Amino acid sequence: MPSCLYGSRGLTLASGRGGVVTDTTGREYVDFFTAHGSALFGHTHPRLVSALNLAAGRPWTIGMGFDDDIRSSLLEKLGSLLPDGKAYLCNSGTEAIEAALKLVTLARPERRRILALRRGFHGRTAGALSLTFNPHYRRPFQSLLFEVEHHAPENLPGVVDESVAAVFIEPVQGEGGVYPMNPALGLEISAACQNAGALIVADEVQSGFGRCGAMLSSSLTGLAADIVCLAKGVAGGLPVGVTIWKGSLGDFPQGSHGSTYGGNPLVCRVAHEALALLSEEGLCEKAGNLGESFRARLEAIDSPTIKGVRGLGLLVGVQIEGRSAPLVRSLQGHGVLALPAGPNVVRFLPSFAAEPDHFERVAETLEEVLALGNPA
Ligand SMILES: Cc1ncc(COP(=O)(O)O)c(C=O)c1O
Repeated sequence: MPSCLYGSRGLTLASGRGGVVTDTTGREYVDFFTAHGSALFGHTHPRLVSALNLAAGRPWTIGMGFDDDIRSSLLEKLGSLLPDGKAYLCNSGTEAIEAALKLVTLARPERRRILALRRGFHGRTAGALSLTFNPHYRRPFQSLLFEVEHHAPENLPGVVDESVAAVFIEPVQGEGGVYPMNPALGLEISAACQNAGALIVADEVQSGFGRCGAMLSSSLTGLAADIVCLAKGVAGGLPVGVTIWKGSLGDFPQGSHGSTYGGNPLVCRVAHEALALLSEEGLCEKAGNLGESFRARLEAIDSPTIKGVRGLGLLVGVQIEGRSAPLVRSLQGHGVLALPAGPNVVRFLPSFAAEPDHFERVAETLEEVLALGNPA
């Protein structure tokens, strides 16, 4: 028997292509869930499949002590996203955050305070869970966690001083309800951190790698990141996490961190191809434009249940009156996969492969389902 950790969606998916998945009965769904946003390039993208096939015929895992040309190229490209940047590869978002926590501790050893935002989500391993705000996730494990101060975004500039080692921020909060950082406030927070010598860690696990309309969503929200964490779509859905930091912060001393699977050739080849796709096909710009017109389309829906539409690029949230989970179930019943972001927000995480017709179908389905009355 599976553990009851995850509620069942009651569907068995048999295949997927681009922005659509098909269940075992042959029914098609527009996929705006994309495995928690990790199928960022859509399903079975031919170039990613081909990179994976090629990699599958070579050693899958070699250990980081052995060199690999594609991995070196990937690390260089990812590192170049920050000044004189370096990059570390692991297997998930929460691991990328754990590595960032260690970097902060190494770079600011004399400072004790770590700040994060109310509504923030940073993962579920002990370090990352300490940063995550939702008491529902934290409370049972409180004894394992270290102290983090959670603040409202607008209060951050006033509370950052020279005792603060780092501030962890999602440029667009995903799980907490889809709240993009106001760019003017982002600039204010960046100035306050710069003045105090506090580091900004941008958690872009959900919002980065092009999803929101730029390679790094911190660049769209006024945040001058010292450290960036990526994961989810970096390898099109294969397990991966990335921590990138400015070279001025120094480096991990040998042996101070590590991962058996991190940087394995299989994942690196797919991530390398994904990175090439991003630039060759102008996917960041496309995501920004498609997201903007999708939000405008959703805003035009005339329903008293909708209380607001928020987001950036292909990370979109619809605030509703009533509970989001039943509405997500109802959308699924009508051929659309989405997910909740907190109790009252329906979240859409389309892939780069989503077509104009898919956006229209999702908007029409939401309209239809709302007209039936939210089953909440
Ligand atoms: C912003 C953010 N940080 C961290 C995580 C944790 O990532 P993972 O589930 O890969 O450990 C998530 C997962 O949803 C996330 O959205």
